Amino acid sequence: MLDKLTYAGREENFHDVASDERFRFVRGAIEDPDAVASTLDGGIDAIVNFAAETHVDRSIAEPDAFVRTHALGTYVLLEAARERELRYVQVSTDEVYGSIDVGTFTEDSALRPSSPYSATKTGADLLVQSYFHTYGLRATIVRGSNNYGPYQYPEKLIPLMVLNALHGDALPVYGDGMQVRNWIHCTDFAHAIGHVLAHGDPGEVYNAGGPDEQANIDVVRRIVTLTGASEDQIEHVSDRPGHDRRYSLSSDKVCALGWTPRVRFEDGLAETVAWYRDNAWWWEPIRSGEYRAYYERQYGRSLS
Ligand SMILES: NC(=O)c1ccc[n+]([C@@H]2O[C@H](COP(=O)([O-])OP(=O)(O)OC[C@H]3O[C@@H](n4cnc5c(N)ncnc54)[C@H](O)[C@@H]3O)[C@@H](O)[C@H]2O)c1
Repeated sequence: MLDKLTYAGREENFHDVASDERFRFVRGAIEDPDAVASTLDGGIDAIVNFAAETHVDRSIAEPDAFVRTHALGTYVLLEAARERELRYVQVSTDEVYGSIDVGTFTEDSALRPSSPYSATKTGADLLVQSYFHTYGLRATIVRGSNNYGPYQYPEKLIPLMVLNALHGDALPVYGDGMQVRNWIHCTDFAHAIGHVLAHGDPGEVYNAGGPDEQANIDVVRRIVTLTGASEDQIEHVSDRPGHDRRYSLSSDKVCALGWTPRVRFEDGLAETVAWYRDNAWWWEPIRSGEYRAYYERQYGRSLS
């Protein structure tokens, strides 16, 4: 595994596989051809590109890292795959399609990204497809919906709300909170990616959406109930610029390959809340570090 360990990456995230003899970790950037070459030494037959800058708010404030990682980084990995004739899977997002009021996006829907995050992810997807068409690279793309689960950096909606709820902090909801997301548990998304790696057809795109859609405000209310917090902690704040209203993915194509999402949102959310409650060792260093400064910049108030 090659990972730059940005603010969002930590060795604690892979402590449970670190001693596995099949696992090797190289600290480095995907946009660095030397780091990529040293990672690919020996016995590798596929590249799966998870590496990304993923937080939309940060892409609005500071887009440069998004361009570097998604455009240049994806290019360097594609070149490495081409040179070595490796299979390639690009991990992508439903955000490349933009927002949809009714219905669901299929793999043939138009690409209409709205943030620097989704626009640079879209550019990466197009580059991957060009390597299939131009060079015959055995490349596939998997577009996931909103992930949740353990080890998620607390800038994202669910861990942010869980940790604020547990600490008695305000729960800052963007706008009216009626933005709808198609939640997928991270284990289901990981299985979808593995499934496409094993069974996907080169050149194809596969959507992998979760089984449930939920408005942000309803997610926050569930978290209030699960943590024993108070609804008085909910505070509506100015909406994110260009905030997409609804995402929804049709996953028929990957389901036809034999994948199916297993974790219902109600169960996965309860497990996730329990994980954060029981694993303060993981999030305490984050909540007392760079994240505090980020939170103050983003929400104009301090964490307790
Ligand atoms: N989180 C979601 O809801 C979601 C939904 C759909 C798709 N995805 C996609 O799944 C992938 C993983 O997302 P995540 O939520 O785990 O992201 P994350 O932000 O939690 O973690 C990103 C990881 O990539 C590493 N990284 C960042 N830039 C790098 C670079 N230039 N070189 C090497 N490593 C780098 C970071 O250190 C970190 O370990 C991304 O491609 C993302 O676009 C995420």
